[in-house]
Amino acid sequence: MRGVEQHPALYDRVVQPLDTGKLGAWRRQIFASLSGDILELGVGTGLNLPAYNASARVIGVDVELDLVRRARDRGAPVLVGNGERLPFPDAAFDYVTSALVFCSIPDPAQALREVARVLRPGGRLIQLEHTRTNHALPDALLDLITPLWSTVAGGCHPNRDTPALLLDAGWQVLRHDRRLGGLIRLLEALPPARP
Ligand SMILES: C[S@@+](CC[C@H](N)C(=O)[O-])C[C@H]1O[C@@H](n2cnc3c(N)ncnc32)[C@H](O)[C@@H]1O
Repeated sequence: MRGVEQHPALYDRVVQPLDTGKLGAWRRQIFASLSGDILELGVGTGLNLPAYNASARVIGVDVELDLVRRARDRGAPVLVGNGERLPFPDAAFDYVTSALVFCSIPDPAQALREVARVLRPGGRLIQLEHTRTNHALPDALLDLITPLWSTVAGGCHPNRDTPALLLDAGWQVLRHDRRLGGLIRLLEALPPARP
C-alpha cells in the first residue's frame, strides 16, 4: 500500500522540518565520521546525504523510483534496488548505513543477510532507526497504532524491534544509544562471522 513514504514531495514536507532539530543532529552524530565506500540502504529522497563528510564515497539504493530520482537531484549516485536482494557484489562496502529504514523493509532479517554479504571484512552497519521502546506502556501504544500508521506511512512499522533483529541474526552490537526513551536508536554492528 502506497503512503507518505512513496511520495517524495510529501515525505520531504513531513520529515525535513524534523531535520532542523534533533533528527538532523542525530544524523550527523552517527554518519559524519564515516569514510570509505558507503552504501546507504533505503536512501529515500536523500535527506540523510548532507550528514556525510565530503570524503565519504556514498552510493544510495531504494526500492522506489520516484524517491531515487529526488535523491539523485541531491547529488549522489543512487540506484533502484531492493534491500532484500541488493544489486551489488559481495564485500563491496566499508559501511552500510540506514536511517529510518528497517521499520519499513518487509523482510528485515533477509535484508540483514544481504547487508552482511556486501560488507567487507571488518565492515559495519551504522543505523539511526525508530523502534519499539522495550517499555510496556509505550510499546502497547505502538502496537495499537501500527496498523493505521503503516497504512498512512506506506509500510512503516513503528513497533519493530531492530536491535533484537540484529542480535537474533548473530550481529555483534558495538554501539547502542537510546534517544527519546528508546523510540530512536543509534546503532553500530558487525555481521556474524562468515562460515
Ligand atoms: C522512512 S523512509 C527513510 C528515507 C531516508 N533514509 C531518510 O532518512 O529520510 C524509508 C525508506 O525505506 C525504503 N525501503 C523500504 N523497503 C525497502 C527495501 N526493501 N529496499 C530498499 N529500500 C526500502 C522506502 O522506499 C523509503 O525510502
